[in-house]
Amino acid sequence: MADIVVAIDGPAGSGKSSVSKQLARKFDFAYLDTGAAYRALAWATLNGLEFSKLESGEFESEFDYQISTDPDDFWVRVGDSDVTEAIRSTLISESVSAVAKIQNVRDFMKRLTRSIVEASELKGAIVEGRDITTVVFPDAISRILLTASEEVRLQRRSTEISATSTNAVVNQVSKRDESDSKIVDFMNAADGVTLVDSSDLNFEQTVEVMSAQIEADLKARTK
Ligand code: DC
Repeated sequence: MADIVVAIDGPAGSGKSSVSKQLARKFDFAYLDTGAAYRALAWATLNGLEFSKLESGEFESEFDYQISTDPDDFWVRVGDSDVTEAIRSTLISESVSAVAKIQNVRDFMKRLTRSIVEASELKGAIVEGRDITTVVFPDAISRILLTASEEVRLQRRSTEISATSTNAVVNQVSKRDESDSKIVDFMNAADGVTLVDSSDLNFEQTVEVMSAQIEADLKARTK
């Protein structure tokens, strides 16, 4: 079991995934992208899983999900299908919020996330998502909310995804955040959660600030 948990939440385009991967490399921790499971479940509903089974909870026995926690060999599988690329499509980005809204799904994801962290043989894990600091690991040693202004997030996402129009990017960032933040508040730091605003920081600087915070939290724990 990874007994050091670093919980990182934040909206789309905040740089969470790339920063979390880099932190995992730096600390030699596992890396867990929790949004991938929501995306993979959305993919499953578009590939044969009945949507009504999400609400009833019946999906649990049919959803055969596996994810790598190695930041340098990242993959996601549903059954025999490698869905690493497929879950990043516009279609999935636009349908995932409807899946993430369902309470049975959220309860399942909480258990799934905790079991993946428990199965890790590394001493720590960087776990990123929307409700990690508040719901999944409220007792994590380090809890950080990584944000950036909407303008910066839209800009970052438009270079990341090959969206053809500004509209598509707005749909994948602002509209999704608006819908997702009705379920969990990841725009404001909860009590005890450190806010890092990366609007004026580049990638290296963000990693630097986050590393310093994690080191300070680790130090505080051993005191
Ligand atoms: O981080 P991402 O964009 O890949 O996340 C995909 C979706 O999953 C996002 O729209 C919100 C949801 N999500 C969530 O509700 N809770 C999490 N811990 C992670 C993701």
